[in-house]
Amino acid sequence: MIEKNIYLIGFMGAGKSSVSQELARISGWREVDMDAEIVRREGRTIPDIFARDGEAYFRKIETELLEELAEDKGILVSCGGGVILSEVNRDIMKKSGEVIFLSASPETILSRVKQDENRPLLKGKKTVKDIQELLSQRIPYYEKALTRCVTTDGKNPTEIAKEIFTSV
Ligand code: S3P
Repeated sequence: MIEKNIYLIGFMGAGKSSVSQELARISGWREVDMDAEIVRREGRTIPDIFARDGEAYFRKIETELLEELAEDKGILVSCGGGVILSEVNRDIMKKSGEVIFLSASPETILSRVKQDENRPLLKGKKTVKDIQELLSQRIPYYEKALTRCVTTDGKNPTEIAKEIFTSV
């Protein structure tokens, strides 16, 4: 059992969910995927939440969930890509665990999100240029939030999970 939480952060399509599932499998740690947990609790999809109640509402429930998870320890948390935007969220994560940034190039990200319709912020923005733009706005926040960075380009989830597991 780990004495802290592990938070996987990174842009949409950086591989947080698949790496976290793989890491949970090899480590036996309990895993929580924040987006999946929000969908489960709300009983509706993320595009639905954004469309009906707006991004601000989504961010509010995201922070509430993070606060709840931080009270525990030994949890592997796969975060939503925008969790790092809030200073409150960044503080919660740093105080309760290790924050691992999965970095990926815009090209890698595009190849992973191309077919996906479940990310409202990428609707109509599926070009390398669009992703590069949003990514460059986000990078300063990932940098503020991280305690460690792992590059994911050209690696599969098993390789990335092993790299993380051998050094926590
Ligand atoms: C978001 C990322 C998504 C999800 C929501 C907002 C973001 O999570 O939380 O669509 O602001 O980057 P993933 O990174 O798991 O796709």
